[in-house]
Amino acid sequence: MIDGCGRTIDHLRLSLTDRCNLACRYCVPQNAPPCGEMIDENYAYELVRWLSTRHGIHHLRLTGGEPLLYPPLLGLIKRLSSLGSLREITLTTNAQALEKQAESLAAAGLSRVNISLDTMQADKFQSVTRGGVIDHTLRGIEAAVRCGLTPVKINVVAQRSFNDDEIADIAEWGLVLGCVVRFLEVMPIGPLAHVADKHLVPAAEILDKLEKRFTLKAIPGSIGQPATDYAVTGHGLRGVVGVIAPTTRPFCDRCRRIRITSNGKIVACVHDATSFDLTSCWNGTSLHVEDADKVLHRAVLAKPEVGPRKQSLNMVALGG
Ligand code: 5AD
Repeated sequence: MIDGCGRTIDHLRLSLTDRCNLACRYCVPQNAPPCGEMIDENYAYELVRWLSTRHGIHHLRLTGGEPLLYPPLLGLIKRLSSLGSLREITLTTNAQALEKQAESLAAAGLSRVNISLDTMQADKFQSVTRGGVIDHTLRGIEAAVRCGLTPVKINVVAQRSFNDDEIADIAEWGLVLGCVVRFLEVMPIGPLAHVADKHLVPAAEILDKLEKRFTLKAIPGSIGQPATDYAVTGHGLRGVVGVIAPTTRPFCDRCRRIRITSNGKIVACVHDATSFDLTSCWNGTSLHVEDADKVLHRAVLAKPEVGPRKQSLNMVALGG
């Protein structure tokens, strides 16, 4: 599938639920109403079948909210992996509930996981996530590595005056376990856009902090895809770290994604609130493919060339 700017679109981020067991300060506004949307399992399956068999979407990322809170997750992954039309099924999670589920997820056909971890300190973790328990996430990461959901990628949202002094420590901890550790610039999303203005740590500074401890060498071909990854050596370690820098090194020209929210709307760009509703194409048992094609066509042609940075939805609703 090619969009209006000539970009190939072959990645889908599908949000299974907007519920989350955490409420990270840059993701969920303080007084946000409680969420509870769950996409119907058959609807989710039919959407992916349609997109992967008719439209060349071969990379699926399951998101939320927190996708591990979606009761039919295992069954859905089993059905999706037996479709045979996906190259990979990945999942973004906070890993609070991953330790017990990692083995069955791997057996169901999940390829790998990305796990959010912004700090190595229990009290700071509890504060940024509004109530999370760091040991649960650390054990979840270890379980993912043990069960072969690899490469496990650790997402660290770099935040000024919060974790900018921990960047090299988090990288070192992740590298010891064999994880890819990626540092993200905090994005201005929805009512929390001001967090990004206040707490952004530019990629150049993140790299500077990493280079004080390690030797980094950019991996050719990875530059801004959207991550720029680096082969890293030092401290007896070897591995990969990366930066995702939507603000200081935007990668809109290489964006290959669309999103579907847990209430069945296509969002073509994370920085643009325009959405395209697929609900009328689903009658509760089957997807009206010709109608869905029309909605998809409109959504993909409307994908902005450069993200307008006017997102009014919360990240938790958009699907991280
Ligand atoms: N900026 C950058 N990353 C964010 N995430 C959530 N909100 C933001 C934001 N405003 C991250 C989460 C998770 C991934 C899905 O997106 O930390 O790792």
